[in-house]
Amino acid sequence: MAITTRQQQDNRPIIEVCLTPALWYQFDPKGKNVVVIDIIRATSTIAAALHYGVQKMIPVETVEEANTYLEKGYIVAGERDGYKIPHFHHGNSPFEFMGDDVRGKSVIHTTTNGTRCVLMSKEARNIVAGSFVNQDAVIEWIRQENRDTILFCAGWKDHYVMDDALFAGAVVRDLADDFRIIDDAALSAKLLYRYVRENMLRTVKQATHFKRLQRLGIENDIKFCMSNPQFDVVPIYDGEGFIRLEDETALVQTNKEELKGNP
Ligand code: MLT
Repeated sequence: MAITTRQQQDNRPIIEVCLTPALWYQFDPKGKNVVVIDIIRATSTIAAALHYGVQKMIPVETVEEANTYLEKGYIVAGERDGYKIPHFHHGNSPFEFMGDDVRGKSVIHTTTNGTRCVLMSKEARNIVAGSFVNQDAVIEWIRQENRDTILFCAGWKDHYVMDDALFAGAVVRDLADDFRIIDDAALSAKLLYRYVRENMLRTVKQATHFKRLQRLGIENDIKFCMSNPQFDVVPIYDGEGFIRLEDETALVQTNKEELKGNP
């Protein structure tokens, strides 16, 4: 079979999709960028929080760990099975992170699936939080980075959920010329997005994840998470929590200046 010039010379980075945390063992994040995706609601909430002025969203794995921060005076937020932890300041609704009480503050954040995936990705070169509300900014960042990338769908308790896969598909579709697709998960996500993109909310309303969370009365949250306000924010993990990309860049610059000043 003839090998095309493109196949011979294809040194584009790869884009992979991990459809549930149960499949994470198949991926090697070392040296790669990871985009954690938990559309309803963790990564949409992180993007909204940073857009509205929260300084840092710090993911922690357990309620017990969050409690230790609570005792130290931090603002603590999160949910289990979608329900706000009763003694925390906030739950996991994006609308709870748009007010004065959290502006300029660090918030401890623990959720059933999303924050866990961030902590599972720690070996990655960079971790960012992706969602429909900051879709364009995240896609542009991935493109500029031009590095092997894994789109890590948080799912629900190791199960596949459609809203996360839809966002992965939107990203793969936009980057299909700049990145190589090497697995059927990425291809399937792309085809799924192409098939339902005109009716995303209607489609997601049929999904098990929607039905599961609907009983919580969070339909407005779900509508927000499936919308495209296009916040110009790339939440990047600095080893402790998510900050805005420009804050991270400023921090790196300051550190370089400080190093230069050292004898
Ligand atoms: C999660 O991390 O599982 C979700 O954010 C769940 C939720 O939105 O309550």
